[in-house]
Amino acid sequence: MKLNAEELKKDFPILKRKIYDHEIVYLDNAASSQKPQVVIDAIADYYSNHNANVHRGLHTLSEEATELYENARKTVADFIGAVPQEVIFTKGATESLNRVAINWALHNLGKDDIILTTDFEHHSNLIPWQEKARIVGAKLEFVEADEKGEVSAKQFKDKFEEFGTRIKLAAVTHASNVLGTILPVKEICKIAKEYGAKVSVDGAQAIPHLNVNVQSLGCDFYSFSGHKMLGPMGIGVLWIKRDLLEGLEPYEFGGGMIDEVSFDAATWAAAPEKFEAGTPNVEGALGLATAIEYLEKIGMDNIREHEIELNMVLLNELQKIKEVRILGPLDPTKRTGLVSFALDGLHAHDIAAVLSGLGIAVRSGHHCAMPYHVKKGFSATTRASYYLYNTQEDIEALIAGIKEAIKTFS
Ligand code: ALA
Repeated sequence: MKLNAEELKKDFPILKRKIYDHEIVYLDNAASSQKPQVVIDAIADYYSNHNANVHRGLHTLSEEATELYENARKTVADFIGAVPQEVIFTKGATESLNRVAINWALHNLGKDDIILTTDFEHHSNLIPWQEKARIVGAKLEFVEADEKGEVSAKQFKDKFEEFGTRIKLAAVTHASNVLGTILPVKEICKIAKEYGAKVSVDGAQAIPHLNVNVQSLGCDFYSFSGHKMLGPMGIGVLWIKRDLLEGLEPYEFGGGMIDEVSFDAATWAAAPEKFEAGTPNVEGALGLATAIEYLEKIGMDNIREHEIELNMVLLNELQKIKEVRILGPLDPTKRTGLVSFALDGLHAHDIAAVLSGLGIAVRSGHHCAMPYHVKKGFSATTRASYYLYNTQEDIEALIAGIKEAIKTFS
């Protein structure tokens, strides 16, 4: 069923705000999405009625909080086709990726091993690998986006044919935060498996927009944040394939993650507790689970269809403006709901400032993907990223705003 973005907007209190007397047009969803009232209510309800520490008390509130927290884990697991034991709550995709780097890469990579990635990763899926590679003497190898801003499974296969089993890990984004490009992750996993390499997927920009099933993708690690998918900030997920759970060491130590402790040593609880030392973000987990239930009610396929329609409108309109250079595929089905662009003769920050004056929120800069911008000769780009509550009118307002910015600065 086609979703009604105008109706959905009403579920998001912040979208009723006016900015400089304009209706807010929120097109910065790739940085962070807005929250529906149900998510805000779930968090308030938790603190109003159930708050206590989890897994630690026998009293009613602690038992309720524990049940809510573990139910949230189950909701996340069901959403991605996993089992709860494989779902580790973190504070966001960045922490999840760092955990793979520390818990797995540091222990499993050696001198001259290779981490295979792309040349358009955002910093959270680049710097953790750079740092660990430096420590163990491993190297990074990059698959480069073609002139359309796409990468093919064949490019990954070529790298595996060239470097063979020296590639121990493919660390790739599922969808690019700059190009919008959706990567052929399933095919990449298949190729990596043939060479015995592990695959870590950065799903931060994919899971809010696509149906994701970690089993059918065939990856080993999948990382994402709650706040880009209508959930609160400060909560994220690291999914670890079951076979790997036992062999991985915890990276934080303390309460909640132990089996037995003496003055000399300790043993660990089973996953997921082993990976969740200290008091967890219970409100975050509940908020995320509520966001997932909201998304499921609308249907991920309907969200995808809606974003492809908005892609179509925006890409068409942008191509009519002669000063515009679009990054990433022109095929609206090959990207998630975001388009980055540069305007000849106009700095991205100036465009964003004009748009902001009209109540339109976009991101300008290098979008935490500086190497790709530098490589392509862009000091900065403007990025419009939409979600289920954005309407065709929002895109029309953006186009009108861009034209106004061109007029203002020419
Ligand atoms: N990496 C996030 C973005 O693309 C913050 O905006």
